[in-house]
Amino acid sequence: MTDFRLTPADRTLLVNPFRVMNVLERARQLQASGRDIIHLEVGEPDFSTAQPIVDAGMDALKAGNTAYTPAAGLPELRERIAGFYQQHHGVNLDPSRILVTPGASGALVLLSNVLLNPGDTVLMPDPAYPCNRNYVHLAGARARLIPPDMPGAAAPSVEQLDAAFDESVKGLWLASPANPTGAVISHTHMQALAQWADSRQVHLMVDEIYQGLDFSVPAALSRPMGDLPSALSLGGNAIVINSFSKYFGMTGWRLGWIVVPEYLVKTANILAQNLFISAPTVSQLAALRAFDPDVIDILEQRRNAFRQRRDYLARSLTSLGFELPWQPQGAFYCYADISRFSDDCEDFCHQLLENHGIAVTPGSDFGEHQARRYVRFAYTSALPRLQQAMERLAQALA
Ligand SMILES: Cc1ncc(COP(=O)(O)O)c(C=O)c1O
Repeated sequence: MTDFRLTPADRTLLVNPFRVMNVLERARQLQASGRDIIHLEVGEPDFSTAQPIVDAGMDALKAGNTAYTPAAGLPELRERIAGFYQQHHGVNLDPSRILVTPGASGALVLLSNVLLNPGDTVLMPDPAYPCNRNYVHLAGARARLIPPDMPGAAAPSVEQLDAAFDESVKGLWLASPANPTGAVISHTHMQALAQWADSRQVHLMVDEIYQGLDFSVPAALSRPMGDLPSALSLGGNAIVINSFSKYFGMTGWRLGWIVVPEYLVKTANILAQNLFISAPTVSQLAALRAFDPDVIDILEQRRNAFRQRRDYLARSLTSLGFELPWQPQGAFYCYADISRFSDDCEDFCHQLLENHGIAVTPGSDFGEHQARRYVRFAYTSALPRLQQAMERLAQALA
């Protein structure tokens, strides 16, 4: 047998490891050795899933609901999600356009396989959620990263997109609010981007996983229509991804969804059958409770806690001398420019963890453009811990 058969596929070499996972692993090792580590690296809510959702999941298991669901998800859940778009965006969505997936991650894998041919190009901002470009690479296509045209830009400008466009461009992949910057794309800018995509016959893909954690609107799901932006309300063919992970606090339940235009429904269903058979049944039954008003009340309180943490962290980082070019308007991240203190984000993160017990994520996880100048602080720890982290950070910088 020749050696080359015993190697992974070439395309896997294009997929970079998550540096944040190394940070997390080392943080856990240090903790196991008795050190007190403050976790500002992980992108998941520190609150456990709201009790009524947990109870619904337990009831589902007790009732023996352990079989597969239809590939696109439970009809009741897809109707609930359609109802959510009706209530908050005035969008009348046929539930057949909604596919429930194993997390937004499942939706993103599905989407890249539904859309992309080898040789296609997808445009995306730099920095961005790192998995997106890996999904594109695994489908044999290329990601073309577009750096911000001005400090703090939440998305590329139309001029930049024109300059980056060629016949291989098949998609424009955005997120709002974004990871790692927390930036929100304004309604007018999103409209301009949607028009651009339409005029170039390019798929507009918008990851709205942090939609409920958009602090630029007064309240998320407890208020009626109008507050909460979604690319779906623009009326075009936008493909929208969302999840029960972040606002709904269900990361480990692995449940998300994707809304596709009519012309992709059939293909998306066939691929979903083959890739996943179905999203986890117990999670879907639990998620039926997620939109109920008593649960939304709990989630809104948590959202307020995140907003308070955001206010505190942004203020503290700025007063310590970090710059925040992107306004942290949503998600649970501040993306800080560390160039006053270091020109190497990985070394900076290493020092903070080893010497001061603060775990944060290096910018090199998220892109190429000036990435070593940035560090992502996730405010997924409670306020007293954030305060402690800022005290330690002040000492570290002194
Ligand atoms: C922008 C973005 N999209 C998608 C995901 C994947 O989320 P999940 O698969 O838990 O729904 C994440 C997770 O951090 C994310 O930040």
